[in-house]
Amino acid sequence: MSPAKFEEIMRYIVELAESGILKPGSRLPSIRSLAEQFSCSLNTVIKAYKELEFSHKIYAVSKSGYYLVGDFPFKRQSGGTIPIYDFLSAGPDTYAMPYLDYKHCMNQAIDQYKEDMFTYSELLGLSTLRHELARQLRDLQVFTTPDRIAVTTGSQQALHILIALPFPNGKKTICTEQPAHPSFIESLKNQSVRNVGIEVGRDGLDLERLETIFKHTDIKFFYAVSRFHNPTGHSYTNEERKKIVELADRYDVYIVEDDYMGDLDPDLKQDPMFAYQPNGRVIYTKSFSKTLLPGLRLGLAVLPEELIEGFTRAKFASDVHTPVITQGALEIYLKNGMFAAHIEKIRKLYRKKGELLREAYQTFMPEGALYTCPTSGFYSTVRLPSPIQADRLIERLKERNVLVQSTESMYLTDWKRVDELRLSVSHVVEDMIFDGIEVMGHTIQEMVVERERGVIWR
Ligand SMILES: Cc1ncc(COP(=O)(O)O)c(C=O)c1O
Repeated sequence: MSPAKFEEIMRYIVELAESGILKPGSRLPSIRSLAEQFSCSLNTVIKAYKELEFSHKIYAVSKSGYYLVGDFPFKRQSGGTIPIYDFLSAGPDTYAMPYLDYKHCMNQAIDQYKEDMFTYSELLGLSTLRHELARQLRDLQVFTTPDRIAVTTGSQQALHILIALPFPNGKKTICTEQPAHPSFIESLKNQSVRNVGIEVGRDGLDLERLETIFKHTDIKFFYAVSRFHNPTGHSYTNEERKKIVELADRYDVYIVEDDYMGDLDPDLKQDPMFAYQPNGRVIYTKSFSKTLLPGLRLGLAVLPEELIEGFTRAKFASDVHTPVITQGALEIYLKNGMFAAHIEKIRKLYRKKGELLREAYQTFMPEGALYTCPTSGFYSTVRLPSPIQADRLIERLKERNVLVQSTESMYLTDWKRVDELRLSVSHVVEDMIFDGIEVMGHTIQEMVVERERGVIWR
């Protein structure tokens, strides 16, 4: 196989895409026709297509052929095309979503669960699915029984219910990591719940401060994202998890452990906090949005016995139950091993992206910009050198086709920050991470220099 030839074919396809001859979503030339055109073997063309597929520029449809991705990451301009660096979109990598496999499971579920659709279903989820979830959770060191599992409409629904639910400790204040993902913050604000924050940053969490909060405030639960925190990417060590559980036990505080991306952890020795206290002190939540498809709205909570009744009533009041078809499809998807195979693939993908991001930060971030460096998952933050404000930088980056978000909505009112960005690498193809961070690093530096020269920004 000639290496030059397959690269020639790759370049040819990219040029067709960039020039607009090949439209996004359109079918690529057949393998046979390209082999003839380039006077090479079918294997050479297949190799070129596989490489393009791996870098998410094209995708394969079984028994049909190869297609150009719908949003090929280039913006057309009159003189040609320019790349878009999307560090803003927060869902999973579009090209790694198992859309076709899940479609197959949905079709099967419609047949298999049609009887259940004629009537209302079980409030906390299909019992067959809950059995399967109990089995799957063991791989994450979460050993529980199906009757303690509640299937929810996204894990956000579980969090929203838990925020309002009275707890057996009779306490009222919620302690949350700061920052925390926007829907959790919104839920606290929306339900006007008393709250206290504790910083989770580049150096993790101050356990002494946590103990002081537990000791002196009536904390109902502490909300913690166990690994690949949104937005910082922070993960606790096993020692820290153990210590947090000990403190919670000592001061009669519950823990709501959000393990929304636990499946992505490449280190199988990492235990969730639940593993250190599986009998009710730790309420474990999990999402299928970042690892599967966010639009399915599927999540779960592992509840203490004493909260099951109250949670069930709140879930009934909220949406009666999570749609049966998506639950059935998830059960099929888990049982036939598709989920395990998919996770294996995306674990590698996000780990690789994390490594590239870290290298890019080390290479291009100017002095004074403080970044977090996750080992996997897809979020990280950059704190800007003073006095640069996130909004101003975001505007300038947008003009340069780099899209990012401020973390402002991820803070409680008292913790408001305006000098921090959240970056997600999920929607940026691997070979664009470096270029995007280079533009960002230079733009930050440019603003630092302008400020030193006394430029007034409007
Ligand atoms: C840390 C974290 N937990 C939970 C959620 C909610 O996820 P779901 O889509 O399952 O409701 C999100 C959503 O972004 C999140 O970032």
